[in-house]
Amino acid sequence: MSSELWQNVPLAPPDSIFKLTAAFKADTFDKKVNLGVGAYRDDNDKPWVLPVVKKAESIILNTPALDHEYLPITGLPEFTSAAAKLLLGPDSRVLAEGRVTTVQTISGTGANHLGALFLSRFYQWTGDKEVYLSDPTWANHPAIFKNVGIIPVSYPYYDPKTIGLNFDGFLSSLKSAPEGSVFLLHACAHNPTGVDPTKEQWNVIAQAMLEKGHYGFFDTAYQGFASGDLDNDAWAIRFFVDKGVKMLICQSFAKNAGLYGERVGALHVVSPSKEAAERVKSQLSVLQRSEISNPPTYGARIVTLILNDAELFSEWKRDISTMAGRIIDMRKELYKLLTEELHTPGNWDHIVNQIGMFSFTGITPEQSKALTEKAHIYLTVNGRISMTGLNRNNIRYFATSLDAAVRGTL
Ligand SMILES: Cc1ncc(COP(=O)(O)O)c(C=O)c1O
Repeated sequence: MSSELWQNVPLAPPDSIFKLTAAFKADTFDKKVNLGVGAYRDDNDKPWVLPVVKKAESIILNTPALDHEYLPITGLPEFTSAAAKLLLGPDSRVLAEGRVTTVQTISGTGANHLGALFLSRFYQWTGDKEVYLSDPTWANHPAIFKNVGIIPVSYPYYDPKTIGLNFDGFLSSLKSAPEGSVFLLHACAHNPTGVDPTKEQWNVIAQAMLEKGHYGFFDTAYQGFASGDLDNDAWAIRFFVDKGVKMLICQSFAKNAGLYGERVGALHVVSPSKEAAERVKSQLSVLQRSEISNPPTYGARIVTLILNDAELFSEWKRDISTMAGRIIDMRKELYKLLTEELHTPGNWDHIVNQIGMFSFTGITPEQSKALTEKAHIYLTVNGRISMTGLNRNNIRYFATSLDAAVRGTL
């Protein structure tokens, strides 16, 4: 008897976020709330197609000259140059000097993958291939690096005592890591904690990176989403580039353009010279060719239209402030309910101090589970909530349920 072909394939657990969404969908309770998903929802809990995206789509539809040919391996050239400018700034010196290689990728995940693969092949590793990831980080980071043979190790980041940044721990990790280590840094709106370093702290981090010759692997999935201002949210990246920290940047347009399923993103590698940037580009092209051959056109065309047209660009900025503004309003409202109205035990300042789509509430795994099992509120067990899942209609229900969970009366 031949044994079954796949008998050695173990059954993998389902992805925790996608599992949460499936459980939410299957729940028939009328007041159920989904705070797990990392995608923007409007005040009626509906996905929001940005008005500027609709305009760009109608332009595309009405441009019969557009065809469905393959893009170049590194992507739509108008997209890659506009995306780099958005990230690094219109007056960027490294862009003017031709020192940046930009490759269009399968959204931010693809950028992380291609960046990790490139480092795995070409970084001047002195010891083991390791990447320092913040503790905690986006759940996909460790998996992406492991896939290309880079071992994830963690650096202290979140302090449960203060529900804020463990800056001393972070800094001592930067100082004690071997020279030339690779550190993954969330550019803004840290996922999952919503805790970002201040400008002063970024300055100290940059100094430590320069002193030890560390490499910055920046991930930016929330430009504009954090503060509502695209330039402000790119501050840390531009600052590190100016300081001369060796780095690459992974960029996603999933959240800030609401183009989740279109998979629009880019990888930017900053090199010491134009000539090095060209060699980097040649190797990124080889890697990309063997993996996806060339990236998809549709989302890149939308983003290019928006970035290259002054009127559409202004409209996009308004759309972004609508999204960021609603999130900030929900933070304020939740804070008010917990502190002024319900007098929920504990300090809730972090709800308004944290930045971006996510908030780390600081509740225990047991309290998170109680919220899901007893109140039909879906969130990850680490207590992370997606602020965009809250709206006018459900915020009071959430606040009272959270209050009860904290008091142990749910
Ligand atoms: C920190 C971080 N990086 C990258 C991504 C990539 O997302 P996408 O592949 O949809 O652009 C996300 C999405 O949640 C994220 O939170």
